[in-house]
Amino acid sequence: MNNIHAIILAAGKGTRMNSSKPKVLQTLSNNTLLGHVLTQAKNISQQVHVVYGFGGDQVQQAINDNSINWVEQVEQLGTGHAVAQATPHIEDNTVALILYGDVPLIQQATLEQLIDAAQSTGIALLSVILDNPTGYGRIVRQNNVIQAIVEQKDATPEQLKICEVNTGIMAVNAQLLKQYLADLDTNNAQGELYLTDIVESAVNDNKTVTSVITNNEFEVAGVNDKAQLAQLERVFQQQQAAQYMQQGLTLKDPARFDCRGNLRFGKDCEIDINTLIEGEVSLGNNTSIAPNCTIKNAKIGDNVSILANSVIEDAVINHGASIGPFARIRPLANIGENAKIGNFVEVKKSTIGKGSKVSHLSYVGDTTMGDEVNIGAGVITCNYDGVNKHQTIIDDGVFVGSDSQLVAPVTIGKNATIGAGSTITSDAPAEQLTLSRSKQRPFPSWKRPTKQ
Ligand code: UD1
Ligand code: CA
Repeated sequence: MNNIHAIILAAGKGTRMNSSKPKVLQTLSNNTLLGHVLTQAKNISQQVHVVYGFGGDQVQQAINDNSINWVEQVEQLGTGHAVAQATPHIEDNTVALILYGDVPLIQQATLEQLIDAAQSTGIALLSVILDNPTGYGRIVRQNNVIQAIVEQKDATPEQLKICEVNTGIMAVNAQLLKQYLADLDTNNAQGELYLTDIVESAVNDNKTVTSVITNNEFEVAGVNDKAQLAQLERVFQQQQAAQYMQQGLTLKDPARFDCRGNLRFGKDCEIDINTLIEGEVSLGNNTSIAPNCTIKNAKIGDNVSILANSVIEDAVINHGASIGPFARIRPLANIGENAKIGNFVEVKKSTIGKGSKVSHLSYVGDTTMGDEVNIGAGVITCNYDGVNKHQTIIDDGVFVGSDSQLVAPVTIGKNATIGAGSTITSDAPAEQLTLSRSKQRPFPSWKRPTKQ
């Protein structure tokens, strides 16, 4: 929105993470904590200011977004001090929206309400009612009108009983914000410049402080340690799963589904337990994914069966194909319509034609395979000579017997048959049997050794 400036406080070190990374760079789903907040902030404001402190270079490098105004807070003297580092960059006739780099699940609709409220009264805060308000700033009201925010450490026993607490998120007319920040002092239990004291200044200035009360405690939850990070990850995943189910996806158990990216799907798709989706994945209609699969950046067609324990990455699976169980489909694999890739088969940088079958225990790499090919158990394309990768071409209708090696570069002609156990080092002609196996013979005089 025009005339909205977002200020994201991100100067905290996050000691309790026990990490070498700044707290706001911890990841939730496929984005950093700060990245989640930035997405919302950018959607809603004309300019985003991030107040950084500890690990600033690392944060700026990881976020790598030059539309952001990075503002350094050299010493952490309190939330009021942090906001005051950004306000010189903000024009008076705008609304400043104060967000936190470690509060990742904040929702767009809530922020819109808060901004609306600030536009009408000058100052609005986001509060939440908690069963256990310990640690938070309490919202002090008189005749239901907000009078002040009192921090835990400064509160009277009576005030400590208040369950409506400050989330920290506020929207304030920028001119008023600058005026009230100038009034702050460190006369409090922590000797800090409290942002929350601007509420009392506004009341003294005869302004009505409005509030938006959220009933979703997770959207305002901060992350201070790995346990809270894991909790919000679950919340995020459950919200996403609920949204997908609403759009028609069948999830056998939404608590055992994770998507760190974007999943698109047609009608009647079904995902069984313990599946991990990463990056951009699309499913056509009527496609099913059995338990324990990992699928990353894949385009999967209609009526595809991904059987249990399969791993697919950067690949295309066309209509009607069957993958797994225990298949590994690696980058640049393209599995043709109605093709079958069975158990313990690895396919890399290869095209598998329509209706072709690689059913058991094979490695297919750097290969172009035609239609209706049958690859027996244990066949290997020897694509690597120790220095370079080479291509294997298998034409339509070929049958490769079990335990054969195709030493690339090599071409197997149309409808050729390769006898089991062959090591094929030069091109095999179309329509013929090629065999490179040594002739079988018995050794009638041979005896098994006996123990001495
Ligand atoms: C603050 C609020 C409290 C509210 C709570 C919600 C104040 C004085 N209190 O308390 O009313 O209930 O948040 O979680 O605002 N930060 C900086 N620079 C600083 C100080 C803080 O960037 O100098 C950042 C921190 O990284 C953190 C956020 O501001 O992300 C909140 O700071 P913190 O010190 O944790 O505030 P609380 O004491 O939790
Ligand atoms: Ca805090």
